[in-house]
Amino acid sequence: MSASTAPQPVIAQLVETMRALAGPHPGFRPAHAKGLVCAGTFRPSADARGMTRAPHLQGGPVPTVVRFSNANGNPDVHDGVPNVRAMSVKFQLANGKGADILANSIEGFVARTPEEFLEFLRAQLPDPATGKPAPDGVPKFLASHPAAAAFVGRLMQKPVPASYAQTSYHAEHAFLFTAADGSRRFGRYHFVPEAGEATLSPDEAGKRSPSFLRDELENRLRTGPAAFRLLLQVAAEGDPTDDPTALWPADRPRVELGRLEVTGISPTSAQDERRLVFDPTNRTDGIDLSNDPILLARSAAYAISYERRSKGE
Ligand code: HEM
Repeated sequence: MSASTAPQPVIAQLVETMRALAGPHPGFRPAHAKGLVCAGTFRPSADARGMTRAPHLQGGPVPTVVRFSNANGNPDVHDGVPNVRAMSVKFQLANGKGADILANSIEGFVARTPEEFLEFLRAQLPDPATGKPAPDGVPKFLASHPAAAAFVGRLMQKPVPASYAQTSYHAEHAFLFTAADGSRRFGRYHFVPEAGEATLSPDEAGKRSPSFLRDELENRLRTGPAAFRLLLQVAAEGDPTDDPTALWPADRPRVELGRLEVTGISPTSAQDERRLVFDPTNRTDGIDLSNDPILLARSAAYAISYERRSKGE
């Protein structure tokens, strides 16, 4: 677990609020509840070594566990509902540990600090008097947080993906990468699908079966792997490295770190996802955390969440 600058009660309250918003779904994650666990192989590129000395980015193929998910807290949410989708990747290292990348289908984040995120989530809680959230709660938050308003604006424009394998995913935070020669740079991970992006109209998405993203992936993987390029967007001097709401200019260089092939859905996916924890602070030598307060809060939040769900709460 990494030291967060947020007081522990704020982190516990974040998880509590997410659980309240999700409703009672014992044993499930309060966010990204509906998921699908797959196996895959990552092959680092020759350029990766120039960025970092991290052992899983030096040459040989690395086995991975991949979880695709819907950010909603309802494990039965219809796949046609517009929302953030995600890909979590665990690189399985020779020492038995994992290095993880958690990435969402939209760039950026809604809050700059855990306190701000808590304010945003609380604005969505139902008022006990009416059973509904205060109509002006979220608009008021967005009016005083322009970066959050910009994020929500981008999210509203985002169509439903036609496939988990045809969406780009972004890890949002900056990490500090150190190469064998001691050179250092900040970078942000992006996964880009080799098959290109594909989306559905709201009408088409609504007509598909509730778990069409799973069915689609199952069919796709029968004919071969689904591949993604892992890119590192490298920061220029002055780019913010502690603010996940601030996007870096699109023309920053993107270095290809390697290629991920998703090869099959785990036959024990439902059990696997209960025991798995992905944590963006799980990393190796050659990769350090930035001072992003959202990044630094996540490990403790995920540990609390795991403890609650593994007790069947
Ligand atoms: C302070 C901010 C955040 C909090 C409190 C938070 C909280 C959570 C919690 C409680 C879970 C369920 C964990 C579990 O039970 O294993 C979760 C899952 C997840 N979160 Fe966050 N989150 C935050 C920020 C972010 C950001 C910035 C991203 C962007 C990539 C993100 C992406 C994900 C993903 C992909 C999962 C699913 C992981 C999996 O497949 O197991 N979260 N989050």
